[in-house]
Amino acid sequence: MNILVLNGSPRKNGNTEIMADEFIRGAQEAGHTVAKFNVGSMDIAPCIACESCFKNDGVCFRKDDMQQIYPELDKADMVVFASPIYWFSLTAQIKAAIDRFYAFLRKGYNVKYTALLLNAHDDHDSVFDSAVSNYSHIISYSKWENKGIIKIKGMDSKGAMKNAPELKDVYELGRSL
Ligand SMILES: Cc1cc2nc3c(=O)[nH]c(=O)nc-3n(C[C@H](O)[C@H](O)[C@H](O)COP(=O)(O)O)c2cc1C
Repeated sequence: MNILVLNGSPRKNGNTEIMADEFIRGAQEAGHTVAKFNVGSMDIAPCIACESCFKNDGVCFRKDDMQQIYPELDKADMVVFASPIYWFSLTAQIKAAIDRFYAFLRKGYNVKYTALLLNAHDDHDSVFDSAVSNYSHIISYSKWENKGIIKIKGMDSKGAMKNAPELKDVYELGRSL
């Protein structure tokens, strides 16, 4: 299947990108086609609710970097949201990209499956609650099926992810699809 991976971290080669790449390694080994976007460092403005997309077959008027993602979203069977926790939530950058999914609300999505890859500095499981709740509501509303949620805590520095034992679970999730 076609898998769209959104990395919501602005940090190049950071913990989230390591997670995303490990998922992709597994998914590609399983024969899937993957498109990855580092939305954390792309120029993606928030949705302004003009709803011109509703009158224009899902085409968003705003010509920013989201235009690179829309063709991949259009053909995606699965979307993977990868994000560090910022203030107990998803990053503003990935949230802006998700908000712009609104353009396809009327015309519909091909998406059937999703997964969530999270990491945070804190050592408490509750640090992920808000992001998981947000994701769960989005996919329930959209009638997408969750294929997995992986939460890796204790990421106290850039690159700490390389030593995280849970990284194998991220690879296995991609490989299992
Ligand atoms: C603006 C900002 C807010 C953050 N907020 C939290 C937080 O609420 N809880 C937490 O545990 N870590 C927090 N962190 C730490 C990151 O989640 C953590 O370092 C993560 O591994 C960064 O991933 P990256 O290397 O992909 O950017 C925050 C980091 C930044 C820069």
